[in-house]
Amino acid sequence: MAQMTSTLEQQSRGQWKSSFGFVMAAAGSAVGLGNLWKFPYLAGKNGGGAFVAVYLFFIVLIGFTLILAEMAVGRKGQSDAYNSFKAINKNWGFVGLIGIVTSFLILSFYNVIGGWVIKYIVEMALGGISGDYANYFVGFISSPVAPIVYTLLFLGATATIVLGGIAGGIEKASKVMMPALFVLLVVVALRSVTLPGAGEGLKFFLTPDFSKITGSVIVAALGQVFFSLSLGMGVMVTYGSYLSKGENMIKNAFVVPALDTLVALLAGFAILPAVFALGFEPSAGPGLMFITLPAVFAKMPMGGLFSVVFFILVLFAALSSSISLLEASVSFTIDQFGLERKKAIAYLSCVVFVIGVLCSLANGPMAEVKFFGRNFFDLLADFTDNICLPVGGLLTLLFVGYVWKDKNAIREITNEGDLAFPVEKLWTVMIKFVLPVVLTIILLTSMGFIKL
Ligand code: TRP
Repeated sequence: MAQMTSTLEQQSRGQWKSSFGFVMAAAGSAVGLGNLWKFPYLAGKNGGGAFVAVYLFFIVLIGFTLILAEMAVGRKGQSDAYNSFKAINKNWGFVGLIGIVTSFLILSFYNVIGGWVIKYIVEMALGGISGDYANYFVGFISSPVAPIVYTLLFLGATATIVLGGIAGGIEKASKVMMPALFVLLVVVALRSVTLPGAGEGLKFFLTPDFSKITGSVIVAALGQVFFSLSLGMGVMVTYGSYLSKGENMIKNAFVVPALDTLVALLAGFAILPAVFALGFEPSAGPGLMFITLPAVFAKMPMGGLFSVVFFILVLFAALSSSISLLEASVSFTIDQFGLERKKAIAYLSCVVFVIGVLCSLANGPMAEVKFFGRNFFDLLADFTDNICLPVGGLLTLLFVGYVWKDKNAIREITNEGDLAFPVEKLWTVMIKFVLPVVLTIILLTSMGFIKL
C-alpha cells in the first residue's frame, strides 16, 4: 500500500520518460535567446576571442559543478525550488525563493525579445525586409505599441503551453525542436563562414587578445554562463526533481553544458563572420542577430524560406526556455497559496506583462528614464545577470557544501555509491572553496567595490 501511494505520488508529479528526453528538456531550458541572440552580441561587444576564452573557462570551471549541485538538490528534495531547499534544511527555502523571483524578472524582459522574434517571423514570411536592416530594427523596437502587442503574443504562447502542463509537452517538443534547431544552425553557420570577407570575423571570434580581458569582460562572461545554463535560480533544481532515482546525473550534468556551449559557439559562427563580411559593427549590441541575420539570408539561395524557418526555430528555443521560467513561479504559487493552476498563470502573466511593457517602452518613449545610468530594460537585464544569478549560485554552493554537506550531496549524486564519480575530490574542492571565492570576487567587482 505504502509503495502504491508513493508510485502514485511520483506519477502525479510527473517524471521524464527517458534520459534523452530529460537531456533535451534541460538543454531546451538552457538553449534559448541566451545562446542565439545574446552570446554573439556579447562577444562582439567585449573583444571577440577574449570574451569567448573567458566564457569557456567559466563554463568548464562552474558549469558542470553547479548544474550537478542543482540537479542533486532537486532530486533529493523532490519538489519545486523553494520546497526542495526547504526539505533538506528548513531554514534555506529562501534560496529557492530568490531564484523564483529572479526567474520572474528575467521572464519579463525575455518576453519582449520573444516578441521581436515573432515580429521577424511575420516579416520574413511576408517577403523580408527591404532597405536598411539596422534602421528597421531600431524603428520597430522603439515604437510605442507594436512591440508590446508582440510581447503579449509571446507571453500568450508561453502561458498556453504552461497551462497544458509541462512534462509531456516540453519533453516531446524539445526532442524534435532541439535537433532541428541544431541542423539549421549548422547550415546558416556554413553560409556565414564561407561569405567573402568572413575571415576577419573568424579571426575576431577565435583569436583571444588577452589584453582585452578587463573586469567588465569577466563580469559579462560570468553573467552569461549563469544565464545561458539557466543556473542560480532553481530551474535545474525543479528539472532535477523530475529525475528518477536510478538516473545518471553526472553524465547529464556534463552533456547539458556541452550542448549549450556548442549551440552558443555555432551562433557565434553564424553571426560574427557575416557581420564582418557584410560591413556591420560587431559591437552593435542587442540588435546584432536581428540586423545581420536577415542580411545573410538575403544573400542565400532560398534565403526567404531559410529565414522564416530559422526565426521559427529561434522562437521554439525561446519558448522552451520561457516555459521553464514561468513554470518556476507557477508551481510555487500553486503549492504555496493553493491557487488553481489556471488562476496562478493568469495572475502571474498579468504582472509579468506590466513589467514587460515598461521594458519595451524603455527602448523608445521611456529611453531617457534612467536608473543607475541604464534604461529600465538594461537595468533588469544587468541586475538579474550580474547580481541575482551569481548570488543564487553562491548561496547554492554554500548550501550544498556546508549545510546539506558535500558527503550527503555525493551520496545523492552517485545513487548511494552505485555510480563512479571520478572527479569527486575536485568537485568538492570547487564547491566548498574555489567557487565561493571566485563568485564573491566577481560579485564585488560587478557591484563596483573592487576593480579588476
Ligand atoms: N538559459 C536560457 C537562455 O539561454 C534562459 C533561461 C531559461 C534562464 N531559464 C533560465 C536563465 C533560468 C537563467 C535562469 O536563453
